[in-house]
Formats: sequence, structure tokens, C-alpha cells
Amino acid sequence: MIIDTHAHLSDEKFDKDRNVVIERAFNAGVEKIVEISCEQQYWDKALELSKHDNIFVAFGIHPNDVEKASAEDYKKLELLIQEKKCVAVGEIGLDYHYDSSEQTAVLQKEFFATQLNLAAKFNKPVVIHSREANEDVVSILKSLKIIPKGVIHCFSGTPQQAKEFVDLGFLLGIDGPVTYKKSETLKQTVLETELSNLLVETDCPYLSPQKYRGERNEPSYVVETLKEIAAIKNILFEEASKITTQNAVKLFNL
Ligand code: NI
Repeated sequence: MIIDTHAHLSDEKFDKDRNVVIERAFNAGVEKIVEISCEQQYWDKALELSKHDNIFVAFGIHPNDVEKASAEDYKKLELLIQEKKCVAVGEIGLDYHYDSSEQTAVLQKEFFATQLNLAAKFNKPVVIHSREANEDVVSILKSLKIIPKGVIHCFSGTPQQAKEFVDLGFLLGIDGPVTYKKSETLKQTVLETELSNLLVETDCPYLSPQKYRGERNEPSYVVETLKEIAAIKNILFEEASKITTQNAVKLFNL
């Protein structure tokens, strides 16, 4: 059994063949999918998708969307988080890639804190987006009275930063880029991190693994990431999928 713990199937890129893509994932051994719905305009679509037996959902406001978020969005988010199939709050966090101005950082931090509180209020794990912001994310998490459970989505950073997150109790989400030849640091992180601290994700339609690079990514391709993790750790594919699936079941209560 395999779980794609991070998909964006509500994306328009799946509008023409969404059901075929979902069917293909189940045929490839992906038994469950966590749909990550972090753009306000896709929330209803994701909620609809989660009516599917094996599709679960996380709701949140992405750090790159905080500027256009309204008070109504926030109220709606609080309701969505209480939906039966909602297994996490996310993806939330900090992203300094496009805009590292002080003003943006302040706003992103405010939304991050508010949504961390929401997760705590409803006892849900968090899916954290941290892009070029690992230091700030670590210090924010450390400052919390109660550190939530969660995953650092598409971890990118040094093995040292990986260890800091793991020490805080977080899992690391591993995506398609681990299959790229030049991702030496990420491969090293996977080697040094215990399998019990890793999750596999696609982040589809983005971040296709090497075999499908340049194409639209989809949940069935999560198999490629698992193959790479097994190769790096010199273990059987079955072992890699069994343990990462157990990790996902435990974190998201699937
Ligand atoms: Ni994502």
C-alpha cells in the first residue's frame, strides 16, 4: 500500500481527465491520496473530491496567497477544517522565494501563526511549506507552547536543518526532485534520516520525477520517489513503501 500524501488534484491541469488520473493511481498501488487545498478558489472543488472514499483533504491558506485572503476566507477555513475528511491544516508556512521583503514576511508570519492556532484548536496536524525560510520556520515552531505534529512538505535544506525539524517531531516530505541527479544534498538527507521520519508526496501537477520530467506530475508517479528512497537506503521497495505508508497513516489518522 502506498499513499500520496500531497497532491493538488483540484488544479485545472486535471480538469480534462481527473477521474482517469485517480484511477491510474489506484491501479499503480496508490491506495489513498491526501489532496492539499491551499488556494481559496479551489476549496469547494477539493471538498467535492474528498467525497471519494480514498481521498482525504487538507485545507489552508498558502503563504503566497495571504495578501488576497479576506476575513471571510478565514471564517470559511475554520469551517472547512472541521469537515470529516479534513485530515490536516495546510499547506501553511513561509515562502521567501518570490518576495523576501520585510512587509511580506510579517504578513506571512501572521497568517502562519493564526493557522497554527487553528490546527491546535481542532487538534489537526499541519502540512508546512517552507521555501528559503527554514530558519524562521524552525524558530516559530520552537516558540510555540505546544508544537503540533506535522510534515515539512517537499523538504529542501541541509541534513542539519532536516535534523532540526525531526528533533521537533516533524516528518520530512520527499518529492520527485529526490530522483534528479543533481539533488545530492537531498539524497544525503534521505540517507541520514530514519525511514520512520519520511513521507512520500508528489505535489502534483508540479515536481515530476526524473522519468517524467517536463510532463504533468500525478499521484501514480509517487512510485518513482519510493524507488529512489529504497535505492538510496539500500532497502527493498516494499520496505520503503510499508514504513512511509505507516508514517502517513499515523500522522493523518487515515
Ligand atoms: Ni504543494
